[in-house]
Amino acid sequence: MSKIDRTTFHDLRSFLRYLREQGELHEIDRQVDKSWELGTICRENFDREGPALVFNRIDDYKTPLVVGVLGTLKRYAMALGVPPKTGAFVEAWRRAYDNPIKPMKVQSAPCKEVKTTSIDLFGDPFPIPIWHPLDAGPELGTFHAVITKDPETGWINVGTYRNQILEKDKLGCLVIPYRHIGLHWHKWKKLGKPMPVAIALGLDPYLSLVGVSAVPAEVHEYDIAGGLAGRPIEVVEAETSDLPVPANAEIVIEGLMPVDEFYPEEAPFGEFTGYMGTKRYNSHFIVVKCVIHRKEPYFQGTYEGRPPSESTTTRSIGRSAAMLEHLKRAGVPGIVDVCVTPAGCAGFHTVVAIEKRYPGHVRDIFGHVWGQPTMFSKHVTVVDSDIDPWNPTQVEWAVSTRVQADRDVEIVKRGKSIVLDPSQVPSLRGWSALMGIDATKPVDEYERDKTEPFPPTTDPKPDWLERVRARWGEYGFADQQVRREER
Ligand SMILES: Cc1cc2nc3c(=O)[nH]c(=O)nc-3n(C[C@H](O)[C@H](O)[C@H](O)COP(=O)(O)O)c2cc1C
Repeated sequence: MSKIDRTTFHDLRSFLRYLREQGELHEIDRQVDKSWELGTICRENFDREGPALVFNRIDDYKTPLVVGVLGTLKRYAMALGVPPKTGAFVEAWRRAYDNPIKPMKVQSAPCKEVKTTSIDLFGDPFPIPIWHPLDAGPELGTFHAVITKDPETGWINVGTYRNQILEKDKLGCLVIPYRHIGLHWHKWKKLGKPMPVAIALGLDPYLSLVGVSAVPAEVHEYDIAGGLAGRPIEVVEAETSDLPVPANAEIVIEGLMPVDEFYPEEAPFGEFTGYMGTKRYNSHFIVVKCVIHRKEPYFQGTYEGRPPSESTTTRSIGRSAAMLEHLKRAGVPGIVDVCVTPAGCAGFHTVVAIEKRYPGHVRDIFGHVWGQPTMFSKHVTVVDSDIDPWNPTQVEWAVSTRVQADRDVEIVKRGKSIVLDPSQVPSLRGWSALMGIDATKPVDEYERDKTEPFPPTTDPKPDWLERVRARWGEYGFADQQVRREER
């Protein structure tokens, strides 16, 4: 298998095989200490935009750990079978939203080869690192799928919500109220019943992608993963509940999340912001009832932290596609492209490119971006369609040459945020000032000024550029550099 074929990756193993063939996978056979060395290697490898990693000998554990399969745009593109261009990614997501494919139920599944109900999360097959020097404990769930069900509608959610090992049979779970797991938990609480939870680890790339992306509420993430894969995701009924779990996962952990009891203390953990989060008191937790796994499973995780990382790469693209979908479903006209910026920790800053149509259009976009129910983009920059929102140089050029702060910057003093934003003082965490920057050309303002029109740019005429590009090889350049926007 050497050509890109998105239908071939039905599990983590087939994707690993492909990455190995493509020179995108590196196996570390030397013994690695999980208390400091493993996380440090991951940080350095993400900074070098290096290959996906398989750690074959973590302390004395038998189970290998996989990190970073979707850590670069190149590998993201390989998973989707598209060229490594942001436009192609967004188009693949668009196709998946328009053509969801329902999962297929199977009776027997690789993830059920081994079953245990005597639970010890500290033992094999869980080689779980202390990812960052100041983490409170080993974090089991970092790049995985937490599966829950809406008890009223049957809507299945698949999300990545981190899980610290608290005790040998108890896992923490960071449940933010506006996230979909939070919506489900609230309904189970109203019923007065503990919420069944299944945690699947070692996933095909499509489930990993939907888990970290803000797929709209009530939309089944399995269907969107199927849409991305171009075929149904195979699911099997869990052992202790009726939750559908990925049949081809490496490991599945099943349990119950109480609705009237909380764990006294959880975290801190090294967060996606690049800073340590704070200790969390009275936090949600899961009592583990059963573990099923393949005979010789792979464990999968990722190193959270500042960009660049697998977390920011995957969340940036998935959230950009989800924000685009949100603006389109809201009926906002003129949207050309959206980027939830990777350097903004794939959450805090959204850039929207538009064809400006009416006075107040940009303000409408500010409102809809701030109002996206599961995101927390406190900064919104709106640019004209001649600016590529994925290109930080172009965005800053627009901000520098089209913005007057007293006219084009809106500030809302109290808006929604995430408790992990360290720019907010601890007593106000969860609240944030919101900032919208209108970096579109101030054409109307120039008209009202009645002096001269907004100046044209210095760029060559489009047809001149086309002609020069067509002749590029004839000019004798040593190599054919690729233009930034064509990457
Ligand atoms: C490595 C990683 C860890 C994450 N941990 C959490 C978490 O603990 N809690 C949370 O609410 N979101 C977390 N996220 C972000 C969510 O996965 C993301 O917002 C997703 O869209 C949530 O699913 P939902 O939209 O179905 O609620 C994490 C993302 C990544 C990549």
